[in-house]
Amino acid sequence: MANRRFTRRQAIMGAAPVIAAIPMAGLAAAPALSGASGPPAGTGGDAHVAMGHASMVGDAVPAPGGPGDLDALLTPPPALPHQPGRVRRYTLAALDRDIEIASGVTFPAWTYNGTVPGPVIRATEDDILEVEFTNAGAHPHTIHFHGIHPSNMDGVFEIVAPGESFTYRFPARPYGMQLYHCHTPPLKKHIHKGLYGAFIIDPPEPRHPAREIVLVMNGFDTDGDGENNFYTVNGKAFYYAKYPIRARRSETLRIYLANLTEFDLINSFHLHGEFFRYYRTGSTDQFEYTDTVMQCQGERGIIEIDWHNAGRFMFHAHQSEFTDLGWMGFFDVSDD
Ligand code: CU
Ligand code: CU
Repeated sequence: MANRRFTRRQAIMGAAPVIAAIPMAGLAAAPALSGASGPPAGTGGDAHVAMGHASMVGDAVPAPGGPGDLDALLTPPPALPHQPGRVRRYTLAALDRDIEIASGVTFPAWTYNGTVPGPVIRATEDDILEVEFTNAGAHPHTIHFHGIHPSNMDGVFEIVAPGESFTYRFPARPYGMQLYHCHTPPLKKHIHKGLYGAFIIDPPEPRHPAREIVLVMNGFDTDGDGENNFYTVNGKAFYYAKYPIRARRSETLRIYLANLTEFDLINSFHLHGEFFRYYRTGSTDQFEYTDTVMQCQGERGIIEIDWHNAGRFMFHAHQSEFTDLGWMGFFDVSDD
């Protein structure tokens, strides 16, 4: 059942019954594919029956995992006040692990600490970031951080062999949404296998209060043809369609957004029914007011949404095929 073999083109054209196309095109085939019980497939599994957008949210969505499974990746550790020289310690281990990236579809990942993306690392500018890295995987790896640091802490020259460790230590700067990823060649392989994550550096002057979340955009090539078969945020296709992200109209929603999608040059974030401030990289106070941003590989930024309306609002890649293959979800905005 896992790792069904189909090409991405087949998936998009509907030549194969692909779960990824279901929430957009119809849910009739979902129970058979996910192995779950559900309404009878009265259409004979025709994945092109229109079900309407109401079917694209909630329990009917064939997304993997249970409620709260992605909380640790969605919600970053809290920001700490500026205190130059304070040491912020993190421990990361490279682990080879099969992870479920879409309903019934597993991916043989290379992970930091068992998840793709890896854990959110957070520091305040002028903290000393100390990351103890152990390679418990079967291939050599490193951690390359974006930001300003000495060359011997760059994750390029010290290749950490399986069974070995390396401690990265440098002052965290500049503030903004940074990221980290393995930098062992072949780079394309080490990134698409899953070795990356979000790295937030908070400014000395705290950002204004907000509900804060992290969304890492990524993709998974499940058949090894160099094209992604699934697109996700935080690693599970359609997860936030099944479990919408809650927000409050009275509260700014701040999204730390990064693009770690391999193979495709660009990914994007589009929000329905609302505009937001977009701070590119988040290292200055300059922003753009928009409802769609695109990011190249390795690009990232900070989105701030002040909700005008309560209700359910969709967010997704504005590359339609990415949406169909898993990269979509909803915000549930309450009226308080
Ligand atoms: Cu690697
Ligand atoms: Cu990079």
